[in-house]
Amino acid sequence: MCGIVGVLGNHEAAPILVEGLKRLEYRGYDSAGIATVDAGKLARRRAVGKLANLSDLLVHEPLAGKSGIGHTRWATHGAPTVDNAHPHRAGPVAVVHNGIIENFKELRANLAADGFEFSTETDTETVALLAERHLRNGLSPQEAAYQTIGELDGAFALAFLFDGHDDLMIATRKGSPLAIGHGDGEMFVGSDAIALAPFTDQITYLEEGDFAILTRTSLEIRDQNGELANRQKRLIQLDVARIDKGGHKHFMAKEIAEQPTAIDRALAAYLGHDNAINLPEALDFSKIERVTLVACGTGYYACLAAKYWFEQIARVPVEVDVASEFRYREPPITPGTLAIFVSQSGETADTLAALRYTAGKATQIAGLVNVPESSIARESDVVLPILAGPEISVASTKAFTCQLVILLLMALKAAEQRGTSLPAGLPQDLRSLPGLIHQTIAGESKVKSVSRELAKAQDIIFLGRGHLYPLALEGALKLKELSYIHAEGYASGELKHGPIALIDENVPVVVMAPSDALFDKTVSNMQEVMARGGKVVLITDAKGAQLASDGVTETLVLPEVNDALSPILYAIPAQQIAYYTAIAKGTDVDQPRNLAKSVTVE
Ligand code: G6P
Repeated sequence: MCGIVGVLGNHEAAPILVEGLKRLEYRGYDSAGIATVDAGKLARRRAVGKLANLSDLLVHEPLAGKSGIGHTRWATHGAPTVDNAHPHRAGPVAVVHNGIIENFKELRANLAADGFEFSTETDTETVALLAERHLRNGLSPQEAAYQTIGELDGAFALAFLFDGHDDLMIATRKGSPLAIGHGDGEMFVGSDAIALAPFTDQITYLEEGDFAILTRTSLEIRDQNGELANRQKRLIQLDVARIDKGGHKHFMAKEIAEQPTAIDRALAAYLGHDNAINLPEALDFSKIERVTLVACGTGYYACLAAKYWFEQIARVPVEVDVASEFRYREPPITPGTLAIFVSQSGETADTLAALRYTAGKATQIAGLVNVPESSIARESDVVLPILAGPEISVASTKAFTCQLVILLLMALKAAEQRGTSLPAGLPQDLRSLPGLIHQTIAGESKVKSVSRELAKAQDIIFLGRGHLYPLALEGALKLKELSYIHAEGYASGELKHGPIALIDENVPVVVMAPSDALFDKTVSNMQEVMARGGKVVLITDAKGAQLASDGVTETLVLPEVNDALSPILYAIPAQQIAYYTAIAKGTDVDQPRNLAKSVTVE
């Protein structure tokens, strides 16, 4: 993971680098650091923990210079210490890195045999040392960097800065994203366009294997074969004010509250006034024999929910997999397969690798992303932006519900094109969702008190059946990542095959059960919990509450909703429980420990 920024500018670099890093902190917050060249002299500052610690350090120990590189770290090799923080320096070279150098042990041994010493446990330090060795052997900085990357295996986006060179930066990528920003007599580097948004809207994305030599007024890019490459300069419109909490205490609270608007936006784009489903024309489900859905984390649960929709509504067989398994399992991809990759960031390394595995095998590759310029978007045949708007909090909320809305629209379109009948009330009932979500969010006072109780537990079980099963999984994931309470989601029917052994008065069970066709089955499972002294929090609608609240410890009542839409509406209490339990436990809601939002390493 990790985020990279760089600037060859006309103003002091340090504040620019910190501003860019602030926008990349979603990629990791174990440590942060910057290096600058001032009057030819290379220097750096690094601090453990969040970016705020680096900002504090810079107040006491400022760093001058108009050229610089910066980094925010998600630790892979070596603990989050100052020594292990980037930029890494070896003699006249400083380097920042996103990715993993897989052959770093061999490189270390080779460098050690040559008398080089190490001051970190990182894989990245080898990059700086290799470049230093080439410089000692008389190569120019450009040549030294070029030779160095030829020695690296693994994934990397790298930016190099050199002592004695105020107007030179090298930026290169293989496997990890990197963008160049064009200013007026200035040049920028960033892990994504978001980092560069305050400085420029003109972006060039480096492609796999690209090697870029930057000065303030020039950019030369060589492709992986060393040939001069002409990469397009794009105009990117990004909301510069996007890192504002908008009056909320946390980004997560803001993003939960934004869901009615985000879903409205997605519906405006994909559902016409006449209720026609407007998806990219290239998507033709009539020729599709099966759908393969691949994602990681919360996106994976959106895919699991979509399996129910595609299979029940459009009668298409669906396979769903986590990208890290899919990519190495070598699944046969037969003609007639539509492969759909779901990723908020569009940069998740495993999902991107899974996409590349299907390229040339699947009939069509569709990317559902929140970042339309991302690698997954650029490598998909058809792109469906989910239009959630920037999501900053590490735990996904509005991106999840927007993914669900668009996957449901895809299933409905598939049904239409394949001649199967749509569920009653759809797609028009989708329009009720923003209002219902708004109503659910507004009625959150009970969730707060329930969450205060849940915060006392050490283990919590979530149950759901049918298309609420993926929501039980998502509810458990959200809770554990935010509150650090152990939580597991199960299909209600699986309870008696093992998890019921855990049930006692100390293990609360959250049951997600709208009053649909499977309600009675779930209620029976709930009774089995209560018969063993288990405390149940039932999330249902008014009808369900009337039928099944006896003996239940707490009932959260949601508005009635079209059955097919319940996974989307029931995402809201799952998010709220995680949020308020985390508040009760005093954990870091937006930046939970050990996590990062964009996972660009395996
Ligand atoms: C990380 C994030 C999750 C996200 C997952 C997949 O684990 O913390 O919120 O669901 O990555 O990310 P993607 O950008 O591919 O949706």
